[in-house]
Formats: sequence, structure tokens, C-alpha cells
Amino acid sequence: MIPQEIIDQILDTLDIVDVVSEYIQLKKAGRNFKASCPFHSEKTASFVVSPEKQIYHCFGCSAGGNALGFIMNYENITFPEAVEMAARKVGVELPANKRVSKQEQTLTERLYLVNKHAAAFYHNYLKSEKGKKGLTYLKKRGFTDEILKEFSVGYAPDEWEAFKKYCVEKKIPAELLKKAGLTISSEKGRGDYDRFRNRIMFPIFNERGNVVGFGGRVLDDSLPKYINSPETAIYTKSNVLYGLNFCKRGIREKGYVIISEGYMDVAIPFQFGVNNIVAASGTALTSRQAAMLKKYTDTAVMVFDADKAGEAASLRGLDVLIENGMKVRIVTLSEGDDPDSFIRKNGKEKFFDFLNNAKDLFDYKLDLLIKKLGADDIGGISDEMLPTITRAQNAVVQSKYIKILAERLGVHEASLRQEMGKVKKDYSYHSEEDESGTDKRSVNYQKSEVHLLGLAITDRRAFERIRTELGFDKFRDKNVNFVLRLVEDFYAGGHKDISPGKMLSRLEGNEAAKNAVLQAVVNADITKDVGKALKDCISCVRKENREEEIKVLTQRLKKAQTEKNDKEMTEILLKMNRIHKEKVV
Ligand code: UTP
Ligand code: MN
Repeated sequence: MIPQEIIDQILDTLDIVDVVSEYIQLKKAGRNFKASCPFHSEKTASFVVSPEKQIYHCFGCSAGGNALGFIMNYENITFPEAVEMAARKVGVELPANKRVSKQEQTLTERLYLVNKHAAAFYHNYLKSEKGKKGLTYLKKRGFTDEILKEFSVGYAPDEWEAFKKYCVEKKIPAELLKKAGLTISSEKGRGDYDRFRNRIMFPIFNERGNVVGFGGRVLDDSLPKYINSPETAIYTKSNVLYGLNFCKRGIREKGYVIISEGYMDVAIPFQFGVNNIVAASGTALTSRQAAMLKKYTDTAVMVFDADKAGEAASLRGLDVLIENGMKVRIVTLSEGDDPDSFIRKNGKEKFFDFLNNAKDLFDYKLDLLIKKLGADDIGGISDEMLPTITRAQNAVVQSKYIKILAERLGVHEASLRQEMGKVKKDYSYHSEEDESGTDKRSVNYQKSEVHLLGLAITDRRAFERIRTELGFDKFRDKNVNFVLRLVEDFYAGGHKDISPGKMLSRLEGNEAAKNAVLQAVVNADITKDVGKALKDCISCVRKENREEEIKVLTQRLKKAQTEKNDKEMTEILLKMNRIHKEKVV
């Protein structure tokens, strides 16, 4: 937690239009600025930045937030990191003693540092007399000295405590080594020992080029082939793409990213001049990784080894790319090859030529399923294809796919569409509220609550009216309710106007409440007649509350009837009467 005054101070100085303009090109559109959204793929400009409200919002993918949120999202960094970055930018001092996140922050910095030391240690060892064995191995696999240096490839000594001892000399605390995953505690209580021994060391970098972990490969055929760093405070497997720090520029320049499977399949092609290649390091791609790539390109070419190529399951993982608005193409190498061996045999040009054969994921998957299940298994094929199609963000693309699929399977488009309706998208923003709110009445009611919230934030008089005419207890959406109380505190604290941007900064970490605010503010923005909107929404919320009360009372009445409790029955009926009268007022 960083003190709110400091965050407010930063937000006062930091203009969201300036911030966003540093990353993407904005066009003036009335009171706002527009652009095509950097967080999903689109042709129209649905991304809006409001200088008045100090927020951004995308009508396409519903991304949104304040200036700090934009930095976080775009740079893929944590909130404290975004605050520090912004503070530096606007020259606001973050007093060390006020940095409540100090400990976490310094742990992060210290972990980066110890990993950097480790990478240097392993690299130097590789280059030393004792590291000959490792260097010989890497040379045999085609590494040049330049690439070894650029990727900081190293070699871990074949000893139990070599790195640990080096750190004692450097006065690096043992505790920190353990937190970095570089040492392991021995079970017999004989102290810690090095995790990586007698292995080729590939430092794993984050997007900004800090070493966050290692992958260590054996020099022979023994198992496990690789040992990887455990997850630490700075290393989450699903948040890292190997090679991205080296290739982000290349990806932008070439207009697409090649996704391979391993460390070697990034390093060797890179050495040959393929500067747009990354690897997800042995795991299925995550949505976070897809979003990271999306900042640089909207096109991915997957390179599969032959053994993975026949699996529909490995294709299912690619739906996250589609979901993030990426176009996905696939190529399969022939048996026994991977990008590393292919490029060493055939060179860079042949590799790029080969990539030109990549098939669209849709066609690839459909061909594969037909081959595997037979063209008659319409159910089996559509079960696999429809989730992929559902995830395509572009409606035009979707209907093209539906059409092709219907043709290939010899079924009606309409029946595919019907089946598609049953596919659960499982998007994170499809919260329970969304699903329970299927009946129209409750949707309207929810909309009214959110709409009122928007008016309360953007218009102080509206806020007062809502408070006196309705009262906050009547709001049943817990996020709306929570934010309304916050608005109340805000005014009570002497602020005259609320900047939605600042409001959002008070909700850091509470995604649901943030979404409510964004939605609310965007709604309020298009309200023409505030008075009428207030009246309608207030009456809608009142009505919903009444109906809810009646529902509860009806149940109680039934119970009282079976129990023959006359006193209770009279009481309930009186209450119900009162509610019905209120309705007339
Ligand atoms: P591969 O087995 O294809 O290895 O695993 P590779 O990278 O091509 O290495 P070489 O060419 O055999 O030397 C692909 C990736 O899966 C992860 C690693 O990230 C590896 O690069 N992996 C594999 C592990 O994490 N652990 C393992 O034991 C094996
Ligand atoms: Mn390989």
C-alpha cells in the first residue's frame, strides 16, 4: 500500500492523455481522444481516453482504468511498480519511509540482483578453465561466443556448494538465495546446497531484461533434461516468455511472433538472425502471455515438433491466443526436427520460407480432426471447433468460420450457431452476476444500480438526491454499494469533485469494483437527461427492493399459515399492505 495522498498527487500531475500518447497514437474526437485499442485486435477505434475523467476505456474489450492502470497494463507491471515509474516521470518523491510496499519492493530488487549475480557467476564459470566441458558441449551444438554472451548462457559447477560459497564471499545472505530458488535446504539439516549443478544454465529474462530464473540442462541424456527455477516472488512461469526481451523489437518489425517450444529453439534461431521468436518453455500458453505478445503483434506462428502436431489437445491451448484477438497460424516440422536443428541444417532463409507454409489454426485444426475422427463424426468435430470459433473476437471472422465449418461438415449454419450458443466462453469477466442476470427484469435493475452509481460519481447533486430519495442500503450489488460508500467518504473528506481516475486508484486490486466504476462512468457519459435518468433508475431500484421484500414476506406468510400462527400472519399482511401502498406513492 502506497499512501493515497501520494497517489492522488501523482494523478493530479500526470495527465492520462500524455501518458497514453507515449505509447500509442491518439486522435482527437470531440471532448475525448480515440485510438485503436492496444489491448485487443480491432479495425475500428473503440479505445477512448477522457481528459476530463482521467480514464481510458475500450468499448471493444472493456479494458479500462486510470493513468496508472494504463501503465500497469501496457508495461505489464505491478501497481507499486507503475506508481514508482509514474512518480519518477512527474518528479513526485516517494519518501522511503512512506513506501509501505518497501519490503516487497526491496525483495524484488534484491532478487533481481542475486539472479544477476548468479547469471554472471555461471557465465564466468563457463568461460573459465573449469568450465571447458560445458563450453565444448555448447560449441558442439553450434553456439557462438557472441550469442553465449548475449543470452548470458552459463555452466553450473559439478559441486554441491560452489555458488553458495561464492555468495558467502559476496556477502549475499543465504536466505535470499533460497528465496531466489538458487539453493535448496537439505532435509538432513546440513544446510543449503546449490539447486543447479553440472548443468548448462539458461537465464530466463522477463520482458524488461531482468533475470528472473534459470533453466538448467544436463550435458548428456540423463533425466530430468531440464531443471527450472521454482516460482518465486519475481518468477511466475505463466508470466514469462523466453526470448521476449531480445525479440520485442523484431516482433514489431516483422509483424508477427514465432512461438517455439524451448530455450534452444529461441537461442539458436536468434543467432541465425531470427529475431522474432519466443518460447513458452514447456507449458501451455496462458492468457497473460498472450496479452504480453499482443502488445507487439496480433499474429503468431506456432512451430510444432512432429510429435506434438497430431494432438488436438495441444491446439486447445491456442484458444487463449484467439481469445486475445490474435491470428494464429501453425506449421509442423518433420519428425525429429525442432527449430534449432532445422535452422542449423537449412539456414535462416529456408526457415522463413518454411514458415510461409503455416496454415490458419482453424484450417489446421479442422483438417486434423477430420483426419483423426473421420468426416462423419460431426459431433466430435464441432465439439472441438466451436469453442475455438466462439473465442474469435471479430464477428466477421466468426461467421466466416461458421460458414466454412457448415460446408465442410454438410450441416446447416443455423444448427452450428445454435450449438455455439451452448459453448461456455469462460471469460473471466463473465462473473456470476452476469449469468444469474439472464431474466430481463433483473438486468434492468442491475443496470439501474450501475447507472445511478455513474451519476453519483459524476454529479454531486445527483449523489445527494440518491442518498436522500433512496438511501444506499437499497443497493444490492455489493460492488456498487461499496463504491457508493467510498464516494460518500470522498465528499465527506472535503473533496468537491470526484475524478473517476482517482476513484479507481482507491480500488486497486478490486477488479469487480473497478469494472463497476468504469461501466458506471461510461454510462453516465451518454446520459442526456440526468433528471429523468435519476427518476427512472431510482424507481426501478425501489421497485426491485419492494418485490424482493414481498417475495420474502410471501415465504414467511406461507410458513405462518402452515404453523397456524395468526399473530405472525396479521403482522406480515400489514407489512405487505404498507409496501403496496408505497408503490402507489
Ligand atoms: P525439449 O525436450 O524439446 O528440449 O523441451 P529442447 O529445448 O529442444 O532442448 P534440446 O534441444 O533437447 O537440448 C522443450 C522445452 O520444455 C521444457 C524446457 O523449457 C525445454 O526448452 N522442458 C523440457 C523442461 O522444462 N523440463 C524438461 O525436463 C524438458
Ligand atoms: Mn531441441
